[in-house]
Amino acid sequence: MVQVWNPNGKYRVVSTKPMPGTRWINLLIEQDCRVEICTRQKTILSVEDIIALIGDKCDGVIGQLTEDWGETLFSALSRAGGKAFSNMAVGYNNVDVKAANKYGVAVGNTPGVLTETTAELAASLSLSAARRIVEADEFMRAGLYDGWLPNLFVGNLLKGQTVGVIGAGRIGSAYARMMVEGFKMNLIYYDLYQATRLEKFVTAYAEFLKANGEQPVTWKRAASMDEVLREADVISLHPILDKTTYHLVNKERLAIMKKEAILVNCSRGPVIDEVALVEHLKQNPMFRVGLDVFEDEPYMKPGLADLKNAVVVPHIASASKWTREGMATLAALNVLGKIKGYPVWSDPNRIEPFLNENVPPPAASPSIVNSKALGLPVSKL
Ligand SMILES: NC(=O)c1ccc[n+]([C@@H]2O[C@H](COP(=O)([O-])OP(=O)(O)OC[C@H]3O[C@@H](n4cnc5c(N)ncnc54)[C@H](O)[C@@H]3O)[C@@H](O)[C@H]2O)c1
Repeated sequence: MVQVWNPNGKYRVVSTKPMPGTRWINLLIEQDCRVEICTRQKTILSVEDIIALIGDKCDGVIGQLTEDWGETLFSALSRAGGKAFSNMAVGYNNVDVKAANKYGVAVGNTPGVLTETTAELAASLSLSAARRIVEADEFMRAGLYDGWLPNLFVGNLLKGQTVGVIGAGRIGSAYARMMVEGFKMNLIYYDLYQATRLEKFVTAYAEFLKANGEQPVTWKRAASMDEVLREADVISLHPILDKTTYHLVNKERLAIMKKEAILVNCSRGPVIDEVALVEHLKQNPMFRVGLDVFEDEPYMKPGLADLKNAVVVPHIASASKWTREGMATLAALNVLGKIKGYPVWSDPNRIEPFLNENVPPPAASPSIVNSKALGLPVSKL
């Protein structure tokens, strides 16, 4: 149930799951790590399972977003001499960073490498919902198609409609650019911070369209989230999950959205009150959703699976080969960097140097979320 690489390595690094590619393993082995990969056929490991994997001596762990990294695990890792943990994910709502700080454990995440892949899935769900792709596919396979009809699976045209983005960070901005450029949608967004680069992009694209005699696209930074919900035709959620975004979309907020709106969630399940969503979908058959994440993963709230106006996929937003291999590499290098005492990379959004397979990666941890709290040195590069 545990696969061991380089048994005589000086540092013991545990990965709670097999991860795509081999570069991450090779990079650890080259730096004298013994790599142990848990190959148990159990999808979600419990805290007890992980304590057993950590054992008596462990220098670092690469873990997954399905695991509960809190006081118990960080104290176990610390007792085993470990000083490094990395999530193989950009979000780290499964990690109690305060507990990690208490035990001096660095917490890594994997930003940047999944931005475009995740945004592409959000775009796919937007299109699938708008054009009723899954319903139409089921209809076809069921042998129900007996000829073209003017009213068959009529959906929404995106061009000229308004796309709303809640949380215009890395992924939200990438998604916004795809929808604006690809489908000539107007943009309205809500974020705590101004998305200056995104605004500049839309302005420049509008100029380009105008110069070509086309209707220019527009953008607006909304003063409140409700403004986005009221005005947009397609709304995609991309904030982090924390106390402020839990059930951000609830019964009241669903009620202010357009009856034929499309809602997409590729952030984290609890950002939507899923029970309220199921009720809303039942009451409003023209309202459609595309969901990658769920409140009680791996489960769906009762009724959701029966609804034709919901497209549901199993948390695959970051699932492209390049991205998943890159995430594994970044997670391994986060752990390695702390073990070797390397500094932390100065800009976690500029991770390309770590992903170039033709050259050795920089001697730094790509992204440590509690580097300030732990007073870790920052790379000069
Ligand atoms: N489904 C998946 O497989 C998948 C893949 C990657 C990321 N994610 C999720 O997407 C999230 C975003 O990733 P990112 O790389 O774009 O992160 P990011 O930090 O670049 O962007 C998050 C944005 O949300 C904004 N925000 C925070 N609180 C908010 C609030 N209350 N209202 C509105 N905006 C708010 C922040 O200001 C920031 O701009 C991750 O935290 C993760 O949970 C999911």
